[in-house]
Amino acid sequence: MIQKVRKAVFPVGGLGTRFLPATKAMPKEMLPVVDRPLIQYAVDEARAAGIEEFIFVTGRGKVIIEDHFDRSYELERVLSERGKTDVLNELEQNLPNTGSVAYIRQREPQGLGHAVWCAKRYVGEEPFAVILADDLILSEKACLAQMMETRDEMGGGNVLAAMEVPHEHTSRYGIISPGQDDGKKVEVTHLVEKPDPSVAPSNLAVIGRYILEPEIFDILEGQARGAGNEIQLTDAMSNMLGSSRFYGLRFEGTRFDCGDKIGFLHANVAFALNRQDIAQDFGNIIRSVAADL
Ligand code: UTP
Repeated sequence: MIQKVRKAVFPVGGLGTRFLPATKAMPKEMLPVVDRPLIQYAVDEARAAGIEEFIFVTGRGKVIIEDHFDRSYELERVLSERGKTDVLNELEQNLPNTGSVAYIRQREPQGLGHAVWCAKRYVGEEPFAVILADDLILSEKACLAQMMETRDEMGGGNVLAAMEVPHEHTSRYGIISPGQDDGKKVEVTHLVEKPDPSVAPSNLAVIGRYILEPEIFDILEGQARGAGNEIQLTDAMSNMLGSSRFYGLRFEGTRFDCGDKIGFLHANVAFALNRQDIAQDFGNIIRSVAADL
């Protein structure tokens, strides 16, 4: 029996410089796609994959994320007085169970690898998931649930969400050097952080979903700074490859980079058109705007 993945880490300590000025006082994870903040989609995906404990690695200015996953008695009272039970129920459903959420501060944004390392004591000696809320995925089955299935099939190991990207974009991602490949899951033989297209080993990129074995923490502990002078998760995973198996999963679904303006706008259009309550009206607007282009 392989050990179950029960905990997920949500690194939300980044500065979000690509989205200024919106992210000056508000974390980018609170940007709404349609009517839900990005971090709510991330938590919902984790719950759909069976995650029981939620660990947020936060930074300054992120307390509204804590408030978002807490009760709001004043709001609840007003909604209840106005008989808005459907909204009340939805707010209730959005909350993880009491006692299942932890927040830890990353004092300085020293990179994703450093953010993950900050969760070491909360995760302990068990496999865990990492979800980057700004990578939003529209799929029938939650991407993390697909990754859990792959991990079960392979009898354990580390699993990374992977997707083919245009060759000229390899310098934006961690890129996989592929080994055995069945078209869906691929053995990772090497990982390179943000390679120039001229030296990239493939165009198969790792995006913001990871299932990792706890050994990653020991490696992160001594990990030197890499690209952008940050402690990179990709570098630590790369150093772990000799001692631990890694698989990339070409998940089913569409990923939107919501840390980027165009990706975020695209996500709003795609998610709105996927929502029964607004798809028709919004579709009419999109058609009329497109006709005027
Ligand atoms: P990004 O590379 O998108 O960086 O981080 P960023 O600072 O958030 O945004 P830009 O590039 O300046 O616009 C990827 C993920 O890692 C988290 C971010 O919150 C995001 O979810 N992160 C990054 C941290 O939690 N801490 C860090 O030190 C860096």
